[in-house]
Amino acid sequence: MRRLLVLVLSAMLASTGTAAANEQVVGGERASIEANPWAVYLLDDRGAQFCGGTIVAPAKVLTAAHCAIGRSPSELKVVAGREDKQDRGAGVTATVTKIWIHKQYTAADEGEDVAVLTLKDALSYQPLPLAELSDRALYQPGTELRALGWGRTAENGKTSRFLMQATVPVLPDDFCVDTYPQFVKADMFCAGYEGGKIDTCQGDSGGPIVADGKLVGVTSWGEGCARKNKPGVYVRISRYAKDLHSVVDASPPGVVDP
Ligand code: ARG
Repeated sequence: MRRLLVLVLSAMLASTGTAAANEQVVGGERASIEANPWAVYLLDDRGAQFCGGTIVAPAKVLTAAHCAIGRSPSELKVVAGREDKQDRGAGVTATVTKIWIHKQYTAADEGEDVAVLTLKDALSYQPLPLAELSDRALYQPGTELRALGWGRTAENGKTSRFLMQATVPVLPDDFCVDTYPQFVKADMFCAGYEGGKIDTCQGDSGGPIVADGKLVGVTSWGEGCARKNKPGVYVRISRYAKDLHSVVDASPPGVVDP
């Protein structure tokens, strides 16, 4: 009788454990800023977090074009080194001086959803290298990628106070095309689970999805969040590496070549 009670109780605990996990960043867990120093978030002109980004050079932050479009540098701030949005003492709030948006960008689901923010001052946090054209292996279906952000923890929920992460496998391009007719294979990849449950969500856009110490993608779009057969869609960074290097590796102002 006692054994049965223990069994029933542990089964109940186990099931509440899963339920709670599903409410987190749509299946994610907390991530530390120390382990992910290049992860940043963007603040709008009211001081609210609305997108993510990645430090890719000391004074350059890569984000989604749809996060930057229609904004002027003065309407935007980058917060670096802060895992907990409420920890005002941690990290820095950086000023943006310039916004570069891919010239072919029209809408997130049409591709070219990349933008680079130039900061007034260089940051002291470690930048993350971009995936290159030679990194084809990172885009193979089944490759486990780690997405990070302060976005919503449920489709209609609030954004997260803390930096969260979730691991999602790359899905075959044909699956992405079947579920999203507008999906552009050359410019995007999709990642997640056919069953849903684990995904990025609103507020995560512009933020990193990584593997092997490289920026493989930028969170871009999806239908709802963590829905069955509706995975997250990410920018295929390797495809834009050349364009991005010309912006990211530009000599910082004040540094004159001899
Ligand atoms: N567009 C969203 C944003 O601006 C990101 C959506 C990602 N959706 C998804 N199901 N993974 O934050």
